Amino acid sequence: MSQRKLFVTTALPYANGKFHVGHIMEYIQADIWVRFQRMQSHMVHFVGADDAHGAPIMIAAEKAGKTPQEFVGEIAAGRKEYLDGFHIRFDNWHSTDSAENTELAQGIYRKLKHSGMIATRTIEQFYDPVKGMFLPDRYIKGECPVCHAKDQYGDACEVCSSVYSPTELINPYSTLTGATPELRSSEHFFFKLSDPKVVEFLKTWTQDGKLQPEMAKKASEWFEAGMADWDISREAPYFGIEIPDAPGKYFYVWLDAPVGYLASLKNHFDKGQAANHWHEASRTPQSFDEFVADPAVEQVHFIGKDIVYFHTLFWPAMLQFSSRKTPSQVNVHGFITVSGEKMSKSRGTGIDPLKYLSIGMNPEWLRYYIAAKLNAKVEDVDFNPDDFIARVNADLIGKYINIASRAAGFVAKRFGGHLGQVSSDGLHVLEVLRLEAENIRALYDSRDFARALREIMALADHVNAYVDANKPWELAKQAGQEARLHDVCSACIEAFRLLTLYLKPVLPTLASKVEDFLKIDPLAWGDVHAPLPSGHPIGEYKHLMQRVDAKQLDQLFEPPEPAPEAAPATALPGGEGIAPTITIDDFAKIDLRIAKIVACQKVEGSTKLLHLTLDAGEGRTRNVFSGIASAYEPEQLVGKLTVLVANLAPRKMKFGISEGMVLAASHADEKAQPGIYVLEPTSGATPGMRVR
Ligand code: MSP
Ligand code: ZN
Repeated sequence: MSQRKLFVTTALPYANGKFHVGHIMEYIQADIWVRFQRMQSHMVHFVGADDAHGAPIMIAAEKAGKTPQEFVGEIAAGRKEYLDGFHIRFDNWHSTDSAENTELAQGIYRKLKHSGMIATRTIEQFYDPVKGMFLPDRYIKGECPVCHAKDQYGDACEVCSSVYSPTELINPYSTLTGATPELRSSEHFFFKLSDPKVVEFLKTWTQDGKLQPEMAKKASEWFEAGMADWDISREAPYFGIEIPDAPGKYFYVWLDAPVGYLASLKNHFDKGQAANHWHEASRTPQSFDEFVADPAVEQVHFIGKDIVYFHTLFWPAMLQFSSRKTPSQVNVHGFITVSGEKMSKSRGTGIDPLKYLSIGMNPEWLRYYIAAKLNAKVEDVDFNPDDFIARVNADLIGKYINIASRAAGFVAKRFGGHLGQVSSDGLHVLEVLRLEAENIRALYDSRDFARALREIMALADHVNAYVDANKPWELAKQAGQEARLHDVCSACIEAFRLLTLYLKPVLPTLASKVEDFLKIDPLAWGDVHAPLPSGHPIGEYKHLMQRVDAKQLDQLFEPPEPAPEAAPATALPGGEGIAPTITIDDFAKIDLRIAKIVACQKVEGSTKLLHLTLDAGEGRTRNVFSGIASAYEPEQLVGKLTVLVANLAPRKMKFGISEGMVLAASHADEKAQPGIYVLEPTSGATPGMRVR
């Protein structure tokens, strides 16, 4: 078989939140496929990146008092813990907010423009006059024009499910400032998806085997409904990539997001790491440009069912009409549900991947369980705790791991750790296992992991039937059965090696422990036909994997521990429960000082912040940015005394460094009960006094 060259990606997660179990499921699916391909000696570049741009991230960063770059940088820093934790081995992780992505996205746009695929059109949109920006639909709310439900989003009503445009809302308001939005017009850029050339191309592209049948069908429904041109520009302020020759205009995040696949690959090549994956020493590594243009390279995307439109229409069209290669496969998966329920980020249900790890649950249990439920169809996958326990304990441990634990002890104790000759009945069992190699290979390749694992477990059943028929524990007690015991146990160890090889894409760490135990090189697919010879020494058997304890699942789904002396269940007037108890020593760590507000200014470019200059009796002043602009005019505060958190670590903000924080009171639900009240001591206090 000739060596395949694969460029594999998973969807780029938005950099405004941590990974949830849905992300982990997608990465596990792709990682299993990639590891399987590598076991076949195919060459794979497997890359990911953070999807950093867009209005929501810009706004979230501002709320957190950070620059968007800082904000996404912090999210990116947290990725490794999850990926390492679940043995997900990307070759590279990058960001769409990068030089590579800027260059590639602008290059693609220039080509699209050159080939006549970009149109400009003036459109009217809601504009927030207080915030000074055009509002994405999700930041506009108002009364539903159909059922008159209040506080409905700008695109659809959650009460009556009507779909409309934000301009149809009654009494619309900006959710950012509460202001009434104004209609303003601006020039937007469109990718001409309705162009007959594009439609023609996509009609063929979506129907020639690159997509799952149900997705190809979806695509033809979309064509019937008609293709609209795609608005790819946004007005400043926007966190994104500037459109060449169009000052103040940025690419809509979904234009540069998939380009991030290429950017991460380019970054990987530029770091000089990609060459490591070349197996043939004779070949010189290709450059990034050569690689992505190479017809032999297969570009494979793994994505969820919610972003199919972008990946099967926009993305291939972008590539095609900028004279680039188009994807070879777009593999769509369903969503993971937990006990039949959709996950909700806001309600915090679902499985917290880091909690899963921190309570000592084995990441390979989850890999196995997810694999056992994944096939090549776009079907949701349910995580069911009882089913999880059953599959891991009964199948993985009960059927597979047990084979080794039943045979290894005898080999060590009775035969000095050396394997012996396997006779014909054992050889027959092993032959049955080997004959399935091609079938299992094909199932992995077509992403039918569920069936692959079912076949492997059926083989484990077959081996266990052989063990039960020969009862090594009884042979061990019988005189004159030494040779037979050696024979049966050696067959079991070889069977265990084969099953481990088949399971290795799913259970890489376990497989590596088995390789140590068997004293063999890392298993590759071809090793199916390289049985352990008679006389081969094996190591001491150590327990390879624990069973799941039902208590661990209780712990996993337990709501976060309420603090001792927790908040009363009833709502307090402040809208917020009392925080967990601290000691006087904890409190003493916070250095609170009386400070005089010697100057106060509005902050240009921010509607939330005031810039305070404070005298805390230190012989110098401090700069503090405080989110109180909605409550005070600067002149109301100048000359007043307040309380400063004086030993808070300085924080770099978009507008400068903030050297502390002033204390102010507010309701937990700022929208329901607006109002911010800065603390002020009774008369007599002077700057620098400690508050305790
Ligand atoms: N940023 C875009 C993708 C850009 S790709 C050029 C995005 N990000 S996301 O963080 O919302 O989702 C990332 C991936 O996670 C998507 O493939 C999405 O389908 C997947 N999942 C999100 N929730 C999921 C589940 N509950 N279950 C499985 N996958 C899910 O979309
Ligand atoms: Zn309605």
